[in-house]
Amino acid sequence: MASGTSRDVVGRGLRVLGRAIREQPRIFAVAVTGSVLFGLMVIASAYVVGGVVGKVVVPAVARGSVADGALALAAAALFGISVLRVVGIFGRRLGAGYMQYRLQATYRRRVTRRYLDLPLAWHHRNATGTLLSNANSDVEAAWYPIAPLPFAVGTLVMLVGAVVSLFLTDWALALVGLAVFPALFALNVVYSRRMAPRQARAQRLRAEVSGIAHESFDGALVVKTMGREAQETARFAARAGDLRDALISVGRLRGVFDPMLETLPSLGTLAVLVVGAIRLRQGAITVTELVSVAFLFTVLAFPVRAIGWVLAELPRSVAGWDRVRRVLDATGEMPYGEVALDPATPAPATLAFHDVHFGYEPAEAHLPGAQVLGEVTFTVPAGKTVALVGPTGAGKSTIASLAVRLVDPDSGTVTLDGVDVRELTAASLASTVALVAQVPFVFDDTVRANITLDRPGIGDEEVWAALRLAEADGFVAALPEGLDTMVGERGTSLSGGQRQRLTLARALAGRPRLLVLDDATSAVDPRVEAAILAGLRAPADGGAPASILVVAYRRATIALADEVIYVEHGRVVARGTHTDLLATVPGYADLVTAYEQAEQEREQTRTYDEVTPLTSGLEVEVDR
Ligand SMILES: Nc1ncnc2c1ncn2[C@@H]1O[C@H](COP(=O)(O)OP(=O)(O)O)[C@@H](O)[C@H]1O
Ligand SMILES: [Mg+2]
Repeated sequence: MASGTSRDVVGRGLRVLGRAIREQPRIFAVAVTGSVLFGLMVIASAYVVGGVVGKVVVPAVARGSVADGALALAAAALFGISVLRVVGIFGRRLGAGYMQYRLQATYRRRVTRRYLDLPLAWHHRNATGTLLSNANSDVEAAWYPIAPLPFAVGTLVMLVGAVVSLFLTDWALALVGLAVFPALFALNVVYSRRMAPRQARAQRLRAEVSGIAHESFDGALVVKTMGREAQETARFAARAGDLRDALISVGRLRGVFDPMLETLPSLGTLAVLVVGAIRLRQGAITVTELVSVAFLFTVLAFPVRAIGWVLAELPRSVAGWDRVRRVLDATGEMPYGEVALDPATPAPATLAFHDVHFGYEPAEAHLPGAQVLGEVTFTVPAGKTVALVGPTGAGKSTIASLAVRLVDPDSGTVTLDGVDVRELTAASLASTVALVAQVPFVFDDTVRANITLDRPGIGDEEVWAALRLAEADGFVAALPEGLDTMVGERGTSLSGGQRQRLTLARALAGRPRLLVLDDATSAVDPRVEAAILAGLRAPADGGAPASILVVAYRRATIALADEVIYVEHGRVVARGTHTDLLATVPGYADLVTAYEQAEQEREQTRTYDEVTPLTSGLEVEVDR
C-alpha cells in the first residue's frame, strides 16, 4: 500500500480518537492526568535514584559508613514517588477502561438502534452477518486505541519533560536524548504504517468469516438436507485460512519491530554512559547527574511503547470506524408523519392504492432498478375481504409491504381511511395495520411473549381470544406448559403450520383494523385455513371484522373473499368475484387449477399439520 494512504490512515485514526475525546472529555481528562502524574514521577524517580547514588552511596563507599539521615530521606522520597505513581496508574487505567467500554456500549446501542430505523430496502442490501460484525467487532475495533491512548498522551508529556530536564543537566546528554527519542518515535510511526494494510485486511476478513458462519448456521437445514456440509465447511475453512494468514503476517511484523523498539532505549543508555563518562572527566557533570540520566533512559523505554500501541491500533480502528459510520450515516430512513388515525370506537379501515408504481433499488447503484409494480389501483373497503391472486413474482408480497408501509411507492399513493400512509405517526400505523408475512418469524421465547410482544393491554384473555381466531388454541392448550411453553429459536419446536398460526394470533392480538395476510396460512390444512378466514370475517364475539387483504391460492379460501384482484407482472389484470374471474379470465382459472393439482399431489405424501419441523422449514424455502 502506498505510504500516502498509510499516512492518511494515521491522520484519520487521530480524528477518530478526537471524536472519542469529544464524546468523553471528563473521563479522558482523568485518565490523562493520571498518566501525566505517572510520567512526572518516573522522571522524579530517576533523579532521586541518581541523588541516592551520588550523595549517599558514593560518599558511603569513600568513607566506609552510611549517613543514616540522608538514607532515610531518600527512602521517604522514593516511597512518596511510588505512591503517586500508583495513584497515576490507577487513574489512567480506570479512566481508559471506563472510556473504552462506555464508547463501545454507546456505539453498539446507536448501531443497533439504527438497524431498526433503516428501511427494509437497506436490510435487503446488507447481509445479517455483516450487521452482526458491525455491532460487535467493528465497534470494538474502532475504540481499541482508547485503552493505550491516555498512556501515550502522558508519555508524550513525559518525553518533553525528560528533554527539558536533560537540557537543564547537560547539553551533551540532551543531544543524546534528542537523537534517541525522535528515533523511537519514528520507528513507531514506520511500524504502524507497515501495520495499517495488514490490520485493515484482518478486520475485513473477520467480518467475512462471521458472515459465512452466520449464513451456514442460518441455513443449517438446507445445508444438512442437501448434504452440503463438506462444501460449507470448505468455504468457511478457506476464509478462516485467509484470516489466519493475515493475522500471522501481523504477528511477523510485530516480531521484527518489537525487538527494535526494545533495543533502541538500551542503545540510548549505552550512549549516555559513553558521553556521560567523557563529560564527567571534563568536570561538566556530577556522578549524581550521570546516574540520573542513565536511569532515566532505562525507565523511559517501557512507556514509549504506549505510543506504538496506539499507532499500531489506528488502522484497525479506522477500518472498524468506517464500517460503523457506514451504518450510522446510511440514508433512506422513512420518516413518519404527524397524523394520528385512532377512532374512538375501533372500526375496520379502508385501504386504497392509487396508481402505485414501485421498483426495488438495484443491488448495485449503477444497475437499473426494474419496475415491479405499475398503475396498481384498488380498494379494500371497510370490513371487506379482498383476495390478491397471481403467479409467483407477480408482485403480491410487494403490494402487501406497501399496504403496511414497509416500503413507499415511487409514485402514486397508498391511503388508510383516506390518509396517505406517509402522513401517519408510527404508533397510529402500528395500531391500525398488521402484516402476517409469508415466512413466519417466531422469537425464542414463550408462546405468550410471542403473541403479546410486550404490547400493553394484551392479557391472557386477549391472547386466548387471538389464538382461538387463529385456530391455534387447540395445540397451544396441548403444549406441556401452555402459554408458558418456550418455542425454541425461530420456533423450531413447532410445525410450520403451528408457527404460521402463532404469528397470525400475534397480529390479531393487536386488534388491527386492517389485516394483511401474505400467504400466511400456506402450511395450515386447507380446511383450517378456510375456517380461519371465515372466522375473521364474522367474529364470534359479534365485534366488527377487520378489513382483510389476503394473498391466497386455495379455491376454498379465495371463494370467501368479497372481491378478487388478479395480478400479473406487477399490474392488476382483472378484478371481480371468484366465479366471475374463473369464467372470464383464462390465466386465473389456469393458476387456481394448477395450484389445486399441485396441492393434491403434495397431500398424498403428507398431511399439513403433521409436518415435522424439518420438512416444514424446508417448505418455506420453496417460494411459490
Ligand atoms: N427485495 C427485493 N429486491 C429486489 N427485487 C425484489 C425484491 N423482492 C421481490 N423482488 C422482485 O419483485 C418482483 C415481485 O416480487 P414479489 O412481490 O415477492 O412477488 P410475489 O409475492 O407475487 O411472488 C419479483 O420479480 C421479485 O423478483
Ligand atoms: Mg410473495
